[in-house]
Amino acid sequence: MSDVVIEPMTEDFLLWRCLHGGPVSPANIDDWPSDTKMPWERYQRRNTALLARLTRTYGACAFVARHGQEVVGQLRFYPKALYRMKGAGMMCLQQDHPAGPVDDFAEHELPPPAELSDRALEVHCLMTGSPQQKDNPYQRKGIGTRMAEALIRWAGDNGWEAVSAISYEDLPFIYEVTGDAGHTFWEKLGFRLAERYPDPEVRKHPEFAAILEQQALLLGIDPERAKDRLVMRLDLKQIGSSPRQSPRHCDPPLRKPPPAGALRPTRALP
Ligand SMILES: CC(C)(COP(=O)(O)OP(=O)(O)OC[C@H]1O[C@@H](n2cnc3c(N)ncnc32)[C@H](O)[C@@H]1OP(=O)(O)O)[C@@H](O)C(=O)NCCC(=O)NCCS
Repeated sequence: MSDVVIEPMTEDFLLWRCLHGGPVSPANIDDWPSDTKMPWERYQRRNTALLARLTRTYGACAFVARHGQEVVGQLRFYPKALYRMKGAGMMCLQQDHPAGPVDDFAEHELPPPAELSDRALEVHCLMTGSPQQKDNPYQRKGIGTRMAEALIRWAGDNGWEAVSAISYEDLPFIYEVTGDAGHTFWEKLGFRLAERYPDPEVRKHPEFAAILEQQALLLGIDPERAKDRLVMRLDLKQIGSSPRQSPRHCDPPLRKPPPAGALRPTRALP
């Protein structure tokens, strides 16, 4: 996968929808699936305007993994402060408010970086390849790690002080369907556990919780702990901007793809 290039998303090609249906390229991004009830046209308008605005205001809001013309990986991130803004919701680009931003969020006043007292970024979601591909040639090839490393480097170079990511126990379901990764993924990049608490969204969705519990039991993990949200954090002030300087300890220590729109228990399930 050395021919997969990791780069910040730019206004030249705004990834306004995610990779659920497979890799996305300038040639097919606007050919959205016609057989779903998703309001694609509205999402296209909302997301394109918002991503352009975020890119201009903050320099970047996503890293992509590009294989030729195709985007085969995505890591979206936003200033932590953004989630606290009225209308942001949970920022999921394939859902309506409150899971996603309101339609005119791009027109809201976005504080410039210099005005933010909380100079932390939060990973919103990541995926390599499409969870709907039967054989996904892009997962477990280090592409997710490379996108996260690129984010860490970029964040340090651009004056951000910390990067955080929501994560869970290392359960297959978490890696397969949620847009989040297990804690080990982040630990290998030097992130440490900052907070751990019962995930309110998981608890609202018994079917999802049941899968986590079953998988946890099989892996010898306390099923109650499998429903916890783990906030992983990397303090960039302590390590400098390069992820290579981070404490890479790496003790090897989570969609049947859900319907389009992304099952995202971490912030809000549809
Ligand atoms: C989470 C995800 C992005 C990880 O990306 P990736 O490129 O496959 O990860 P990497 O190859 O960089 O893995 C780094 C480490 O993380 C851990 N890891 C990654 N995938 C794992 C899995 N399925 N199970 C257990 N550990 C895993 C491993 O420790 C791995 O190191 P190793 O391969 O040397 O053991 C990927 O699993 C994914 O795309 N999941 C689907 C997400 C999804 O459906 N999103 C849509 C919701 S909006």
